[in-house]
Amino acid sequence: MGASAPQRRAELVERFRELKDCRRCALAATRTNVVFGAGNADADLMFVGEAPGFHEDRQGRPFVGAAGKLLDKLLAEVGLDRERDTFIANVLKCRPPNNRDPLPEEIEACKPFLLEQVRLIEPRVICTLGRFATTCISGRPEGITKLRGRPMAVEVAGLPVTVYPIYHPAAGLRSGAMLTRLREDFQRLPELLAAARPTAVSGPAAGPSEAGTESAPAAPEPAQLGLFG
Ligand code: URA
Repeated sequence: MGASAPQRRAELVERFRELKDCRRCALAATRTNVVFGAGNADADLMFVGEAPGFHEDRQGRPFVGAAGKLLDKLLAEVGLDRERDTFIANVLKCRPPNNRDPLPEEIEACKPFLLEQVRLIEPRVICTLGRFATTCISGRPEGITKLRGRPMAVEVAGLPVTVYPIYHPAAGLRSGAMLTRLREDFQRLPELLAAARPTAVSGPAAGPSEAGTESAPAAPEPAQLGLFG
């Protein structure tokens, strides 16, 4: 910590430019767009999902499909707005073919960029959506059913944060019971955001980033820039 919000935002935009033509894993061959993430570059609340789906891949923006609409609705119910109050990113920045689960080597290749986003945005709360995001950010071996709704203090990218695992919104679209749990867990977000940054942490769950060494390509940009408020 230490850099000003405008400095951190400028660096985040730089990372976005560097990642646009990433070829670190095989997903580069099948994706349409890298989905870097979007929202307020100085948000206290960061959401981390799993990977872009069909619509995200086409539009180059996270959570623009049905799961994203539910996310927006649940946020609105607790008085939060996606663009104003959050930054949303995924564990993987590229869509796995047919929305299959992320592979360990894909997570390994992409994780440094997620950690770099955490380092630059400096969220106080990271809400992990589902199993892959929760394992990636918390380093905890337990499944999402056990961890959901239980905030924990974790060091992520050198930063003490409250990690708050919840079900993925896609689960809430499939089952009424899951939707009830999701809604309950969202109700706790304002209280977690009102709390101070944790001091004692269980981490580090994630090491320092090695991201940001690629140079910027000259390809046209998807309409993602300008989304870092
Ligand atoms: N599901 C995710 O995990 N991320 C998205 O961006 C969209 C759907």
